Amino acid sequence: MAARPALALVLLAVTRLTTAQSNLTAQVPAQDTFLLPRPFNSSFNEPFVSTTFGNRTSSTSRAIDAARNDSFVAYDDEFLRIIGDDPQVSLLATSSNKNISYAFEGGTWVPETNQIWFTAYLDPTPGYLSVLDLNTSTVFRPNITPSGILPNPNGAYYFDGKVYVTTFGDLETTPAIVAIDPFTYHAEEVVNSYFGLPLNGPDDVTVAVSRTTGQECVFFSDFFLNEEGIGVATYPGPSELPYFVWRYTSHDQNLKPVIGPLDIQDPNGLAVDPTNSFLYVTDGPHSAVFQTPTNHTLPSFAGIYQYDLGGADGCTPQNKRLFAFARQGFANGIKVDNAGRVWTAEYEGVVVRNGTTGKVLGIFNALDIIINNTENPVDVRDVAPLANFALAGDELVILAFNRIFGVKLAETVIDAKRFQLH
Ligand SMILES: *[C@@H]1O[C@H](CO)[C@@H](O)[C@H](O)[C@H]1NC(C)=O
Ligand SMILES: *[C@@H]1O[C@H](CO)[C@@H](O)[C@H](O)[C@H]1NC(C)=O
Ligand SMILES: *[C@@H]1O[C@H](CO)[C@@H](O)[C@H](O)[C@H]1NC(C)=O
Ligand SMILES: *[C@@H]1O[C@H](CO)[C@@H](O)[C@H](O)[C@H]1NC(C)=O
Ligand SMILES: *[C@@H]1O[C@H](CO)[C@@H](O)[C@H](O)[C@H]1NC(C)=O
Ligand SMILES: *[C@@H]1O[C@H](CO)[C@@H](O)[C@H](O)[C@H]1NC(C)=O
Ligand SMILES: *[C@@H]1O[C@H](CO)[C@@H](O)[C@H](O)[C@H]1NC(C)=O
Ligand SMILES: *[C@@H]1O[C@H](CO)[C@@H](O)[C@H](O)[C@H]1NC(C)=O
Ligand SMILES: *[C@@H]1O[C@H](CO)[C@@H](O)[C@H](O)[C@H]1NC(C)=O
Repeated sequence: MAARPALALVLLAVTRLTTAQSNLTAQVPAQDTFLLPRPFNSSFNEPFVSTTFGNRTSSTSRAIDAARNDSFVAYDDEFLRIIGDDPQVSLLATSSNKNISYAFEGGTWVPETNQIWFTAYLDPTPGYLSVLDLNTSTVFRPNITPSGILPNPNGAYYFDGKVYVTTFGDLETTPAIVAIDPFTYHAEEVVNSYFGLPLNGPDDVTVAVSRTTGQECVFFSDFFLNEEGIGVATYPGPSELPYFVWRYTSHDQNLKPVIGPLDIQDPNGLAVDPTNSFLYVTDGPHSAVFQTPTNHTLPSFAGIYQYDLGGADGCTPQNKRLFAFARQGFANGIKVDNAGRVWTAEYEGVVVRNGTTGKVLGIFNALDIIINNTENPVDVRDVAPLANFALAGDELVILAFNRIFGVKLAETVIDAKRFQLH
């Protein structure tokens, strides 16, 4: 026993030295994403960086082998500009016990307090909401009043003085959209039904400002989580409404579905671009690897869709088109940065795409940052290494079950103005 601590200290010192010296960024030619030296072997159950080659000494094989162990994988110089010359991953917070998966969904930055609001994994229920204070790297659970208003919270979006949070409900309470004051923690239900019919399980929420009317439009996605086999003590049904993306506008007291299940099977993540011109919607989890993507009888797949926000009210999603698809798993959390780049939480990590061309610019590699992180291991996780993240000024905050990682970026990717009505 006596020898062990000394050995551990030595190993720790070596690890730190190695970490400080090594460059954690891999550059992989974009061409490798569509043209590889044969023979190659890759699977949708593993990330692209796990691809193996018949000729292991080829430059492509060596580049991808190296990328597997790196935290940042750049496919475009634009990604190098975002992360800078010497990006590092830091552990911002960790739960008291590695079985406690407090950091799963939500992930919204409140600029006024410099806090991230996020929610726990729902296996086991009950879920709960936590706040990470970025000034101090401390996590606490706010005392939301009235108590009981937030059964099994999931998605979160801060806008103009309120944190909108979706709840999956519990055995007593049907699901809702709740708005919380980030200073007083006072909460109010905003939407909990449609002409008396309960919501199934709103997953994500976001807010656009109409370019036509200047009014606020709240969008949320709704599907029946309870049938996924997790979240056992969330609202048990019956499921009465189709799976919609809904739009709520307070100025005219109107809740209406804007995207139906024939367009997107399981609407999940939602995000609006900085010009309020586009709404992005991800499809999952039914479309994910839980179902093989090679089962062509399935009506959907892990798509990321782009809509125009238009119509007379400026807040009607129109002209659906396929923007991208998740190579592994599905795209869960989604944010659009100030430059219109689209960031998604996929099984491979946080993927950054150009919002115009859809090109993958680079990936914050989940295999290295989360899965193979032996210094900060996890006991409980979903089939996905992560579900969501937050962008806070010049920082990426990755929610990884019992751990929260931060990466300081070389530019401000999102600013406080994005979260204000005027
Ligand atoms: C590809 O890799 C998978 C998983 O490692 C393995 O089962 C399979 O045999 C490989 N196929 C070829 C053609 O090497
Ligand atoms: C494997 O790749 C290396 C480096 O490109 C090359 O020199 C070698 O000829 C290749 N081997 C085969 C069997 O193709
Ligand atoms: C990746 O990491 C593993 C385990 O530390 C090591 O064995 C392997 O050599 C590394 N690969 C590269 C290309 O650095
Ligand atoms: C690390 O590698 C990346 C990609 O090759 C490069 O852009 C960056 O300048 C390197 N950083 C340092 C500090 O050498
Ligand atoms: C975590 O959960 C596993 C499985 O339930 C259990 O074996 C293990 O002891 C737990 N670890 C801690 C630190 O509680
Ligand atoms: C964090 O720091 C900022 C800037 O100094 C300050 O405005 C904010 O109030 C701080 N947040 C908290 C929770 O104290
Ligand atoms: C494909 O998906 C359909 C619909 O869920 C299912 O009925 C069928 O069994 C699946 N086929 C395979 C081969 O997994
Ligand atoms: C997206 O790609 C287009 C075409 O290459 C380029 O003009 C634009 O600057 C890119 N946008 C961003 C945010 O990088
Ligand atoms: C990283 O994780 C993958 C997938 O779980 C595993 O196959 C691989 O051996 C791990 N690599 C290292 C270096 O631990």
